[in-house]
Amino acid sequence: MERNIIVLDTTLRDGEQVPGAKLNVEQKVEFAQQLKRLGVDIIEAGFPASSAGDFQAVQQIARTVGDTVSITALARAVQKDIESVYESIKPAQNPFIHIVLGTSNIHVEKKFNRSKDAVLEMGVEAVKYAKTLLPHVQYSTEDASRSDFEYLWATIEAVVKAGATIINVPDTVGYAVPDEFGELIRKLNERLKNVNPDVLLSVHCHNDLGLATANTLAAIKNGADKMEVTVNGLGERAGNTSLEEVVMSLKVRDNFYHAQTAIRTAELLRTSKLLTLLTGLDVQVNKAITGENAFAHSSGIHQDGLLKDKQVYEIMAPEDVGADSMELILTARSGRHAFKNTVERLGFSTGDSDDFEQLFQKFLVLADAKKEVYDHDVFQLASNHGNHDA
Ligand code: KIV
Ligand code: ZN
Repeated sequence: MERNIIVLDTTLRDGEQVPGAKLNVEQKVEFAQQLKRLGVDIIEAGFPASSAGDFQAVQQIARTVGDTVSITALARAVQKDIESVYESIKPAQNPFIHIVLGTSNIHVEKKFNRSKDAVLEMGVEAVKYAKTLLPHVQYSTEDASRSDFEYLWATIEAVVKAGATIINVPDTVGYAVPDEFGELIRKLNERLKNVNPDVLLSVHCHNDLGLATANTLAAIKNGADKMEVTVNGLGERAGNTSLEEVVMSLKVRDNFYHAQTAIRTAELLRTSKLLTLLTGLDVQVNKAITGENAFAHSSGIHQDGLLKDKQVYEIMAPEDVGADSMELILTARSGRHAFKNTVERLGFSTGDSDDFEQLFQKFLVLADAKKEVYDHDVFQLASNHGNHDA
């Protein structure tokens, strides 16, 4: 049976914590509008207790896009933060408060310097207070993947009894590996659904080992209802789970996951480019889905295969993510077939076979010198060679 996976985008909260990625209020609102177009279910708009500017941005986003998109913002397990979240998100139609508190020994001992029972009680009190303000509360067990399982579960059970409606399981430091994280989610899901089947199980992964996408997918396969992601995988250190990678994995491999999102995938590239423009942070050229080379083919063997049938080397259509149709980058390794296709696409006839061979030899000389040959180079080459319009 096909499941719907809820997408929470945290580019404006976790993503924006990256040095150099600071956006002003107008820029955040502009990006939130694009997230709405993209079709995310929830926007985590910021951490309002952190500064007056963040509070204002969250409030503006709640007012501008909070009519159809659910809005949340982050609070530590203290009343002042929770109030600040409530005040900033309340203009939205369907807002909820997000509380975070650590569950790993290292967080309990080093960060809070309290007993495990005292930290758990702090979480329960925070949820009870948030529930006096709004019906929906998300609770994040920070550093869940490095936590003792029974203490993690005791915390989850207690905050659910206190009224939490979403449990978010973060791999805060990107320590988890897919099989292990999937198993953690399977076990938590089994227990959670016994306690309260209406509570949603969510995951939030970081990419320190390059496994955020794989861990999120493993969690979905094992029952997670919701994922927290950022556009371009923007986030602290090696970043967060990339929205576009998980969304397209679910779409392309529906036969394996049987789970879909409400994302309008044709908006993916536009969203990625807007983020680059606003933050000034470039996407690596070979980044899956949104990198400049994601749909560019340069090997002659691949180009030849693609020209016969795109499916030979393409698992998704570039148009599905809002990119131009596949791009063939001509190099000295491109064969005659790819070169001929480009010459004809540019509107030239390829003449008889001797004539074409001469043109191809000129192309090889140019490709050796230039390494990459673009449309305008081929255009010039064919014009100078005396090829006529087809
Ligand atoms: O990485 C993390 O643990 C977080 C939480 C606030 C969800 O960002
Ligand atoms: Zn995070």
